[in-house]
Amino acid sequence: MLRIVVLVSGGGTNLQAIIDSISNGKITNTKLCGVISNKKDAYALLRAEKAGVPGVSVSKKDYASGEQFHEALLAAIDSFSPDLVVLAGFLVILPKQLVEKYEGRIINIHPSLIPSFCGDGFYGLHVHEAVLARGVKVTGATVHFVDSGTDTGSILLQKAVSVQPGDTPEVLQRRVMEEAEWNILPAAIDGIANGRFKKDANGNYYMEEK
Ligand code: GRF
Repeated sequence: MLRIVVLVSGGGTNLQAIIDSISNGKITNTKLCGVISNKKDAYALLRAEKAGVPGVSVSKKDYASGEQFHEALLAAIDSFSPDLVVLAGFLVILPKQLVEKYEGRIINIHPSLIPSFCGDGFYGLHVHEAVLARGVKVTGATVHFVDSGTDTGSILLQKAVSVQPGDTPEVLQRRVMEEAEWNILPAAIDGIANGRFKKDANGNYYMEEK
């Protein structure tokens, strides 16, 4: 049974997709042990509560220093003894000690087709604003392992989404969530939980079919 903890900062629609996928069997062999938010008022914490999942908030302003905040965040994660840490809209730069301790066991959902529109400053609506400003016709989402960089870890899954004429950033964000994020993040968790990710001759991950 894969023990997961999900880190959130906002609305939690990706968290909800995970909760629903565990409930309807799209994700198997997985226990959602806890949800950790850096924002006390994150709606994601309400989603966790409704699902009967322990929710914890670790807010930077409650600590005298960044170092103490990082220690508290790590302690909160450790308290759930997770096998996998899932970043689902978590807007905090992970402390080095966390990335090192959970190396190879942290995944993130990014709302573009990495390596496009990612890296410092590319989060939330900024990603979709940049997509529309550039005029690309296809965007999408990526699930990747987290390493010491920003959106630079090995790619696990991607799903393409069309950009439509006249899209606003908000409309495009919603389409990318509905058509890509809410599918590939649960799929990646289920793939990890059931050992279906392998590496090919190029050293790139691929997921075997069920
Ligand atoms: C999503 O767009 C995700 O791709 C990005 O942050 C947003 C989180 O949305 N990492 P939600 O909190 O899951 O609704």
